[in-house]
Amino acid sequence: MLIRILVATVLCCSVGHTETANSCNGLYGNFSQHLASSTPYRYIANYNTTPVEFEGCNASKIWLVVRHGTRTPGKESHEFLKKRILEIHQDFINNLVEHEGNLCNADEIKSWSFNKKMNSPKWLTEEGEDELFTIAERMKLRFPQLLNKTFENTNYLFRYSNTQRAKISAQQFASGLFGRNEVEKIPLDKSLNEELLRFYEVCEKWKKDVKTSFLAALEYHKFIGSQLTNNTLKKLSSRLGLNYTLKFMDAKNIYVYCALETAWVKSKISPWCSVFDKTDLMVLEYSEDLIHYLMDGYTFELTCQQSCVLLKNMVEHFDNDDLNSKNGIFYFAHSGTVLKLLGLLKLYKDETELKHDNYFEMENRKWRTSKIDPFAANIAFVLYKYLNDSSD
Ligand SMILES: *[C@@H]1O[C@H](CO)[C@@H](O)[C@H](O)[C@H]1NC(C)=O
Ligand SMILES: *[C@@H]1O[C@H](CO)[C@@H](O)[C@H](O)[C@H]1NC(C)=O
Ligand SMILES: *[C@@H]1O[C@H](CO)[C@@H](O)[C@H](O)[C@H]1NC(C)=O
Ligand SMILES: *[C@@H]1O[C@H](CO)[C@@H](O)[C@H](O)[C@H]1NC(C)=O
Ligand SMILES: *[C@@H]1O[C@H](CO)[C@@H](O)[C@H](O)[C@H]1NC(C)=O
Ligand SMILES: *[C@@H]1O[C@H](CO)[C@@H](O)[C@H](O)[C@H]1NC(C)=O
Repeated sequence: MLIRILVATVLCCSVGHTETANSCNGLYGNFSQHLASSTPYRYIANYNTTPVEFEGCNASKIWLVVRHGTRTPGKESHEFLKKRILEIHQDFINNLVEHEGNLCNADEIKSWSFNKKMNSPKWLTEEGEDELFTIAERMKLRFPQLLNKTFENTNYLFRYSNTQRAKISAQQFASGLFGRNEVEKIPLDKSLNEELLRFYEVCEKWKKDVKTSFLAALEYHKFIGSQLTNNTLKKLSSRLGLNYTLKFMDAKNIYVYCALETAWVKSKISPWCSVFDKTDLMVLEYSEDLIHYLMDGYTFELTCQQSCVLLKNMVEHFDNDDLNSKNGIFYFAHSGTVLKLLGLLKLYKDETELKHDNYFEMENRKWRTSKIDPFAANIAFVLYKYLNDSSD
């Protein structure tokens, strides 16, 4: 009896499943691996907490630069959320009767409403706080000799780029190291000028020739106006049941919003993520990888060269043999800081440049912001010294 009921249940479910899979677009299984620079850290974090040990050596210094954690949208997405997404949502609802079957979670999108948490642009969210706190906890386990200390016994420097999101990131990281009750005692330095942590904001030549130059971003503009992108936008719009084609920026803003809303509530994936199919996500991800490649990556030599101030800072920190020198330096900065430093280190550099017309060729690229530029992306250097040898 029991067996028969079980069989019946299994059959019913598998039939139901097949039907859904054939007729409507559901959430792409690997969507979390393609959210570009809006990826919450938990999707790509290294959860290994095994101590990093080298025989006969002792970790003696650390130097770390971290991008702030997950934040609320920037100004542009903020504007989009105040107005445009509500219009698209309404257009979607108006056409729902006719296009009911396009999306598996049409009901969920229909009942979606604006997330009220989002007050100011670019504020650190709770998820962002957790990201920094737990990175510090794991680092402490990985480098116990260096980091498993009470605050009184440390000689560390914490410095943040002068923004709310970087400051709270620093606080959370320090809490992860020393405990939440200690954090009041820990001095966190505001960077007095941004020449170190946001070096690119003070480089007029880079701002003129790269950041604000239409020509420098030409490959990006070509990609977002390409046949491939246009086809993607057409498919996406018809899936939403719209009687017009979404502009690229609309699609991009929905994509960014899907990532951020997913980050806000850990147990819940934003219903907007399910409007995309695999190709849409790949195309949007590529557009983000491309613009970062042009603006923060390998296209223009000056871009990454600027970050030598940071590398120099690290080397000087490690070279300083004074017994009173710092054992740890922790910097809290931005995506632009981390990417340009990766570029100086020649990491994630593909043999071929990213261009508007080699999307398919670059499918397995190393330069993938979903992996190298999520919220709380970080680069750490650790100096190990031979225990034996007192002279070096
Ligand atoms: C997700 O990615 C993994 C690893 O790359 C792959 O094996 C799997 O088939 C992908 N899943 C889907 C639904 O594409
Ligand atoms: C320490 O130095 C001594 C003598 O120089 C050598 O025999 C020994 O192997 C060294 N130990 C380690 C752990 O390097
Ligand atoms: C290892 O380095 C830490 C930090 O510099 C120091 O406090 C500790 O005493 C060292 N341990 C050994 C065994 O030398
Ligand atoms: C950190 O230090 C505490 C107190 O000295 C000790 O109990 C604990 O085992 C240490 N943890 C690690 C991972 O070394
Ligand atoms: C894609 O669409 C845009 C906007 O409608 C248009 O300007 C552009 O020419 C199209 N691109 C191609 C390759 O058709
Ligand atoms: C889309 O549909 C709405 C309402 O059904 C209508 O007012 C509007 O003119 C249509 N737009 C286009 C571009 O057809």
